[in-house]
Amino acid sequence: MIKVEGLTRAYGSFIAVDHISFECRQGRVTGFLGPNGAGKTTTMRVMVGLTPPTAGDVTIGGLHYADIPNPGRHVGVLLDASAQHEGRTGREVLEIGARTMGLPSSRIDEMLDLVSLDAREAKRRVRNYSLGMRQRLGIAHALLGDPSVLILDEPANGLDPAGIRWMRGLLKGYADRGGTVFLSSHLLHEVEQIADEMILIGNGKIVARGTRDELLRGATGGATTTLVTSLDNDHLAGALEEKGHEVHPAGGGLRVTAEPVEVGRVAAEKQIVLTDLRAGHEGGLEELFLELTADTQREHDVVPTGEPSA
Ligand SMILES: Nc1ncnc2c1ncn2[C@@H]1O[C@H](COP(=O)(O)OP(=O)(O)O)[C@@H](O)[C@H]1O
Ligand SMILES: [Mg+2]
Repeated sequence: MIKVEGLTRAYGSFIAVDHISFECRQGRVTGFLGPNGAGKTTTMRVMVGLTPPTAGDVTIGGLHYADIPNPGRHVGVLLDASAQHEGRTGREVLEIGARTMGLPSSRIDEMLDLVSLDAREAKRRVRNYSLGMRQRLGIAHALLGDPSVLILDEPANGLDPAGIRWMRGLLKGYADRGGTVFLSSHLLHEVEQIADEMILIGNGKIVARGTRDELLRGATGGATTTLVTSLDNDHLAGALEEKGHEVHPAGGGLRVTAEPVEVGRVAAEKQIVLTDLRAGHEGGLEELFLELTADTQREHDVVPTGEPSA
């Protein structure tokens, strides 16, 4: 378990991380989400003892990182995938790690296999690796010592969609076996599919936290809406209104202030065929993320609201 308590990090008069507190629990993936410059990397650097905090404290399993004996066996870290020595081959990077941690060299092949770097790629120098390959190598390095805690800074950076899916499976499996995962990203869609819990950071402050559903409920002010399309929308709208639900036309269907299950039940009662039924907050998380972090953006783009026009 990772525990962050009142963590502050200032650079001169600039406060990069402003009194943040949270915990990452065992068996869960905790996502750390925020735009560039929000303070994610700084927080992670403090976690692993690379940057001293100005105030506050971070412990992993009750210890400061620097006090953990053979830390690589307990905490796997990927901070900057480009920070590996450019002239070393992928295999050499893992060999050095394995030797430092006192691991058998068979572990290197296991890890190369796990991250799908083949024998030829492992013999190439890191300077010739794509960003995606560097990330895979970095993940292999983080997992080398079979740690129970993983701290990964923007691990999906540079991975293609298949790579992101692979990583999602890997990290979920790792958490299911009892591991603690803390990963950062500046891209919502990367995190929301992997993370059990999300911590949103903007301007060094935590602006929201919770599960995907909890965040969405907050984003929609607690009201549940459903988007539904059927073969007879007029009939369905009438039936829903009869039950006291608010109904508005939306795109080719209806937006209803009710749970999807209730809308489905009414349709079934009236024997109306549904062609689409889904929670109405789709896109809501992205709006929330942009809203919460808006004042940290340097450029203000026009953002589509994701609201289907009537
Ligand atoms: N060594 C440093 N000296 C001065 N400012 C820094 C230093 N490291 C980070 N910062 C500043 O702290 C803020 C947070 O940076 P960082 O933690 O890297 O954000 P993120 O990882 O969320 O993009 C940024 O404004 C950055 O410029
Ligand atoms: Mg960063």
